[in-house]
Amino acid sequence: MEGGAVVTSPPDRLVNALDAASSGLTVMAGSSRFSPSTAIAPRLAVSTLQAYHGVTATARLLPRAGHDLRLDWNESTVPPSPLVFERLAAVLGSGQLNWYPDPTATALRRRLARYAGRPVSQVVVFNGSDSALDCVARTFVGESDEVLICAPCYDNFRVFVEALGARVQQVLGPDPFRPDTAGLLARIGAATRLIYLCNPNNPTGRLYRLPQIEQVLRALNGGLLIVDEAYFEFSGVTAAGLLDRYDHLVVTRSFSKAFGLAGLRCGYVLTSARVARLLNRVRNGKEVNLLAQVASAAALDDLPHVRAYVREVRRARGWLVRTLRDRGYDVIATPANFVLLRVDDPPRLVARLEALGVRVRDRSQMPQLERCVRVTVGTLDDCRRFVAALARLEASS
Ligand SMILES: Cc1ncc(COP(=O)(O)O)c(C=O)c1O
Repeated sequence: MEGGAVVTSPPDRLVNALDAASSGLTVMAGSSRFSPSTAIAPRLAVSTLQAYHGVTATARLLPRAGHDLRLDWNESTVPPSPLVFERLAAVLGSGQLNWYPDPTATALRRRLARYAGRPVSQVVVFNGSDSALDCVARTFVGESDEVLICAPCYDNFRVFVEALGARVQQVLGPDPFRPDTAGLLARIGAATRLIYLCNPNNPTGRLYRLPQIEQVLRALNGGLLIVDEAYFEFSGVTAAGLLDRYDHLVVTRSFSKAFGLAGLRCGYVLTSARVARLLNRVRNGKEVNLLAQVASAAALDDLPHVRAYVREVRRARGWLVRTLRDRGYDVIATPANFVLLRVDDPPRLVARLEALGVRVRDRSQMPQLERCVRVTVGTLDDCRRFVAALARLEASS
């Protein structure tokens, strides 16, 4: 087609438009037509930026089919606490959506402070922990600054810092499933501004212990360490206590995993009051919408609900790992709500499972994870259904 692809079909429009935009194709948006010759060019750092690849967005826009199993994005597979729905209904019933949300999110931050055992001044809330990572990057990273990422890991942070023109170094250890403190320390230099450490790591489950994290903090002079604890509720390990002694530490956490609120977007940061003040200078004050604030506070008011889910996931994870190993699979267990399978042909397995309505994530393009497929662990029932789907595939191949 002259001038490139013209995208019109509704469910695919968003994804195709994004793809087209990143590949320089022409996109129809309503009646206006943009072409590369008249379009504004992005900043240099953005022109070469590789986007973060999430799961298939189109499929997620569709209503959920009765029996599909979404084990591809490490969400909770059950709804949040009933208290969340009660409080949301009360807010919606009041009709008061015309007011902006509380920019200080005080009610939510007070609960978070109690939950995390830190002062309120050390808590900052965001529109998901992704947004927290973005804000930390924008607050501290400038063009050409050096940023270390403990790879292979969750890839969004790389996008945020590369978009700012930072010099990103992916630090790979000899074994992606074990901490490599010595290797990381060797890479820290006078120019290191930020270090990103996902703990436990998505997708390898690698877990750094507190003395190792403390070694990194000691070695970092004039820089900041981000410990991404999106899976904290499952691992039970947190670096937050180190804030008693170190103020160049940022812990990011999420309501998207154990709390079951991925659809509403809420995350938070635990950091020193000094760093919190700096983040608040850059942060959008209206960042966390009213419903997300209310729902997250309600979820914290029903901790037995989230604790019961975490217990269920741990039990299900143990069952899944044992069962898959008994069936001859090469399984890597993690302290989070996912496991990795090493298989001969990851794309084929993912496609065949998808045909059965089971979504898992191919991670085999990541460095050191050549044969790996990631599977979210939900309830025991979810795991049984997953194993049943694998058994169907085995029977038919
Ligand atoms: C390590 C890690 N950090 C952050 C996120 C994003 O969390 P949120 O939904 O709070 O933005 C994810 C989501 O998969 C993740 O795995």
